[in-house]
Amino acid sequence: VLKAVLAALIGYLLGSANTSLIVGKFYGVDVRKHGSGNAGMTNTLRTLGKLPALLVIVGDMLKGILACIIGYYIFRIGLDLSELNYAVDINRVGLFAGGLGAILGHNWPLYFGFRGGKGVLTTFAVVLLAGPYQGLILLGIFLVVVALTRYVSLGSIMAALCFPFLAAFMEKDILFTSFATFVALLVVIRHRSNIVRLCKGTENKFGAKKE
Ligand code: G3P
Repeated sequence: VLKAVLAALIGYLLGSANTSLIVGKFYGVDVRKHGSGNAGMTNTLRTLGKLPALLVIVGDMLKGILACIIGYYIFRIGLDLSELNYAVDINRVGLFAGGLGAILGHNWPLYFGFRGGKGVLTTFAVVLLAGPYQGLILLGIFLVVVALTRYVSLGSIMAALCFPFLAAFMEKDILFTSFATFVALLVVIRHRSNIVRLCKGTENKFGAKKE
């Protein structure tokens, strides 16, 4: 348990490095004061343009991947192979703990007044490592929804909602399914304001410039 907490803590410190806010500092712009007010890739694209948004994709995904890898190895330190005979794949506990820490750090960053993003890219990076097939299917769902509706938020919400079901059907590992359910709920909860705007028909469409 201690090792999982340590993995999550390191993940949190890494995840707190919210790339949209770091990139924004170079441009002298706090993206939280523009567009949707969210510290994420979509709002960076909306506010600052393509190159900064690309940097956010790379940064927010890399920190998720790094947190998972560090968590994985921390958890394995001193782990006896005979201990690996559990109903759940205990091998991935560190990976999940590190990844979850990074997502929480991204959403509530220590270095930026706890006001961060919605964790979509960081969650996606963690999912790609934990279950690459599920990750690619979710990416497909996201892209199809965005292509059809032009709502990035709806794509994120739909992909998040599908994740626990994919995990349950494809992995049959209670730990993975619990993790999937928790991170999916986090994504949906962080999209509360988007859900209100979607219902009112006032949500920002992808590609439409605002402010
Ligand atoms: O990744 C966040 C996206 O789903 C919505 O972003 O800025 O439109 O709230 P935004």
